[in-house]
Amino acid sequence: MDRGCVIVFLALFTLSDAASQTVNQELSDIFNELWKLDVNRMKAGTDYNISLQGKAGYIPQGSRSAVDHASSPLFSLVDETKLSSITTYARFMKLLDNYERSTGVAEKVTTDEVTENNSFLDAILETTVMKRAHQYLVNKGKSRSDLRQFKSQLYYIWFRLYHRDRNGGEDSSGFEHVFVGETKFGREIVGLHNWVQFYMQEKQDLLDYKGYKSTHLPDEDDHVLNVQFSWHGLIKPVASAFVGVSPEFEMAIFSILFLTSTEKTTTAVVNLDEYQLEMVVHRQGRSIGTAYPKLLSSNSRHM
Ligand SMILES: *[C@@H]1O[C@H](CO)[C@@H](O)[C@H](O)[C@H]1NC(C)=O
Ligand SMILES: *[C@@H]1O[C@H](CO)[C@@H](O)[C@H](O)[C@H]1NC(C)=O
Repeated sequence: MDRGCVIVFLALFTLSDAASQTVNQELSDIFNELWKLDVNRMKAGTDYNISLQGKAGYIPQGSRSAVDHASSPLFSLVDETKLSSITTYARFMKLLDNYERSTGVAEKVTTDEVTENNSFLDAILETTVMKRAHQYLVNKGKSRSDLRQFKSQLYYIWFRLYHRDRNGGEDSSGFEHVFVGETKFGREIVGLHNWVQFYMQEKQDLLDYKGYKSTHLPDEDDHVLNVQFSWHGLIKPVASAFVGVSPEFEMAIFSILFLTSTEKTTTAVVNLDEYQLEMVVHRQGRSIGTAYPKLLSSNSRHM
């Protein structure tokens, strides 16, 4: 390589490096709009309470034990009566019950599940959040305006079963991965980025919260948290998740992120409410492989 080439190469490298930290304004705008429309978001201190306790330590991926810096659960209170009274949460919670935990065990598809998946989609499609997301995707030329076609598209990207493990059956879906969580070869926790599922697993003593994972103490009304936990004997060293947001909000933002990109892995930095997040979505064919937020910083403090 002659010197000119090296300089061009270095310049390009620096540019793309800088670009990866640039805030995506368009996505920030639509996500904030959806945030404001999310009337079903739960309120800390009334609808639920969390107890952050200690700061968790560094744990390598694949570890089976971790010092517990939190002797009590993360959720000290969740108003389940309120959750069950909201159709989208009620149908969402019903879906959470339906899964085989481990990948590599072929899922049994029952007609009940088809109905339940469809009725969950019907419920979220009636929310203002999802209606606005639909309109946005139609304007971008990524979805059809016909509601039935939009629903089939959502079904395909979230509920289609695919192989995640090479030697497994049809064993996973985007919904299962993101919202329910799975274990991979019995070694690693993958997915499980949803607060309602976190709470339900914690309540059944299947999940043990180990402490928060940011440098400074987060607030107990924060809507995005980095945490460490164990689940079915495995440790998740650090997981980021929204707290209190509705299932339709998460479905809406991740669907937008996924459908407006053709990359295998899409990342976008967004400013959402008081948080700066890196949003990540992985593609599995024409479906969602995984999707989650990574908390970069919060307005009120440095991480
Ligand atoms: C939940 O938080 C609120 C506000 O901080 C407090 O008044 C209430 O006692 C808490 N409830 C429980 C059960 O922890
Ligand atoms: C409903 O969704 C779940 C989760 O993705 C999946 O396991 C199940 O097979 C789906 N049912 C159908 C009929 O697609």
